[in-house]
Amino acid sequence: MRTQLEEIRSKAKEELLKCQSLNELNDLRVYYLGKKGALTQVLRGMGQLSAEERPIIGQLANEIRDEINTILNQQGAKLKKAEQEEKLLGETIDVTLPGKSFAQGSKHPITLVLEEAKQIFIGLGFEIAEGPDIETDYYNFEALNLPKNHPARDMQDSFYITSEVLLRTHTSPVQVRTMEKMAPKTPVKIICPGKVYRRDDDATHSPMFHQIEGLVIDKGIKMSDLKGVLLAFAQQMFGPKQKVRLRPSFFPFTEPSAEVDISCVMCEGEGCRVCSQTGWLEILGSGMVHPNVLRYGGYNPEEVTGFAFGMGVERIAMLKYGINDLRLMYENDLRFLRQF
Ligand code: PHE
Repeated sequence: MRTQLEEIRSKAKEELLKCQSLNELNDLRVYYLGKKGALTQVLRGMGQLSAEERPIIGQLANEIRDEINTILNQQGAKLKKAEQEEKLLGETIDVTLPGKSFAQGSKHPITLVLEEAKQIFIGLGFEIAEGPDIETDYYNFEALNLPKNHPARDMQDSFYITSEVLLRTHTSPVQVRTMEKMAPKTPVKIICPGKVYRRDDDATHSPMFHQIEGLVIDKGIKMSDLKGVLLAFAQQMFGPKQKVRLRPSFFPFTEPSAEVDISCVMCEGEGCRVCSQTGWLEILGSGMVHPNVLRYGGYNPEEVTGFAFGMGVERIAMLKYGINDLRLMYENDLRFLRQF
């Protein structure tokens, strides 16, 4: 029995030290120390030993079990470490390799200006309103104090779908649509950014372009309120040194009406080619809402007043980013678009 045990000891030692993987090691553990393992099997025969021999053999068996266990643990730790190292080696990242580049889009200058303008007006307490691109003659013209055959309709050469339906030529129809929804509640304080359509196509006109309409109605709204809002807008959009100037103008839906200029963004008012030496740039039309339009919208012009404005978004984008041809914005040339 002693020789059997000694055999197990030396065989186990040899095999354990040769062992190359954790799986193999586990098999050896089971083979030598398991319930049906080699050591157990030998110890089953203990009953035949004499009373003197039994404790000696027992002690030897314990010794061998401890020895095997120790080697098992040592080998286990060693193999585990080796396996981990191998895994790490396989996963090495070469940080000096060039990365994969992802094509990243950028926002169109018009989107940028629209977003910025919205933020500015929201900051001034405005809400965003919307209306349809396909509009009726009533909202686009009639309710804005532009009856059929009114000569001012010529200012906006239009795309008609039927004699009563057209692509809106400006965002002003949203004025009346909003008033109809709100009346007689005050205050009304909205902007409406959106697309508009006119039969124009050259370096400074596109058949589709963008406007931002503004409308404020309340008791006691004055023209100075209009100027104050537009000054705040111009200074946030173009810089704190901006000034605004109102020039008398005509729109059927406002009275009085004004074109609004900002100081030239190129020369800061000195006079240059961009501003035709005037120091000023026109950016929008505006005025006090005409009493007839208030009535169309359901408000009593004896009780409330209001102002409205409509600005061209492309024009603002051109001034803000120094773009010299409107058509660039619709050609989708990546060399242009990547600059924003
Ligand atoms: N709707 C006008 C235009 O497109 C601009 C405007 C809006 C003027 C509101 C006055 C008030 O030319």
